[in-house]
Amino acid sequence: MNITICFDKLPPEPWVQGLQQAFPQASVSAWAPGAPVADHAIVWAPPQQFIDEQRGLKALFNIGAGVDALLQLKLPPSLKVVRLDDAGMSVQMAEYVCHAVIRHFREFDGYDADTQTGKWSYRKPRSRADFAVGVMGLGVLGERVAKALQVFDFPVNGYSRSAKNLPGIRCFSGAQGLPEFLAATRVLVNLMPLTPETENILNQSTLSQLQKGGYVINVARGRHLVEEDLITLIDSGHLSGATLDVFRTEPLPAEHPFWRHPQIIVTPHTSARTLREESITQIVGKIQALQRGEAINGVVDPQRGY
Ligand code: NAP
Ligand code: GLV
Repeated sequence: MNITICFDKLPPEPWVQGLQQAFPQASVSAWAPGAPVADHAIVWAPPQQFIDEQRGLKALFNIGAGVDALLQLKLPPSLKVVRLDDAGMSVQMAEYVCHAVIRHFREFDGYDADTQTGKWSYRKPRSRADFAVGVMGLGVLGERVAKALQVFDFPVNGYSRSAKNLPGIRCFSGAQGLPEFLAATRVLVNLMPLTPETENILNQSTLSQLQKGGYVINVARGRHLVEEDLITLIDSGHLSGATLDVFRTEPLPAEHPFWRHPQIIVTPHTSARTLREESITQIVGKIQALQRGEAINGVVDPQRGY
């Protein structure tokens, strides 16, 4: 069994070593143009040349949850594309989003500013009931985030493509459910995959349907958000700010207005990192399951785009 590894802007060596150790029966190597076709591939944003040369792969394992970059390529229709299925990401995402929601709700940025000037000043307690959090995308990450927010007694809404029923979460679905979901939400958390249906979904029209004082947390993909519309709505006072981890261009260019906007917090696409050990364990388990002829989780449906 041969496994090839092809990453954009990420050194493959630690993965080659880790995978070889976890799966001694396999022969693992980093891809180079012209290499023989392997049985399985582990990739992050590979070039089209890789796909064209590696015809005959049994499966392509993506070392992230989002497969939008991969689905931009011309893939053979029969190729099985497998995403990471949590592998330690959901707890990180829950930490990040709960931190962002609580930082906003408890006005910790205001206390940080007071610390700078030595000012002792209380802010009035705000009502949790007025801070309904709406999680767009109730998949592996979104459901974990929604459940984590419930621990702090925030009212939690959820939005997905298919209808769901999750205890204590007000669930909305489909295009017809979106206006009601937005109207019931003050703090919006985006955890949908980037697909033709969801690209630019956070725009002037949808964001202005959030409750007054709304707040946006985008941890999915930059292309979900129309960036100018967010700034317009914050500057008009309808929205109170945003925490953004993902951007249309990454790294975020130095001249981008988000860096200097006082109501926008920027982090460098770090809300849920791929953890190498957990990911290798998951991928090796899935390759072995495929060898035994068993079904595996996380197989991407190219028609849905996730
Ligand atoms: P997932 O398990 O595939 O869940 C996707 C969710 O989005 C599902 O609930 C799905 O609905 C919903 N959805 C898809 N298309 C929709 C649409 N058109 N309208 C409404 N809902 C829609 O994905 P995941 O593992 O939770 O990951 C979500 C995304 O997070 C990834 O695709 C990736 O872009 C992003 N991500 C970011 C980071 C980071 O560090 N910033 C890290 C990891 C992942 P159904 O349940 O009905 O299918
Ligand atoms: C990171 O953004 C991922 O999709 O895993």
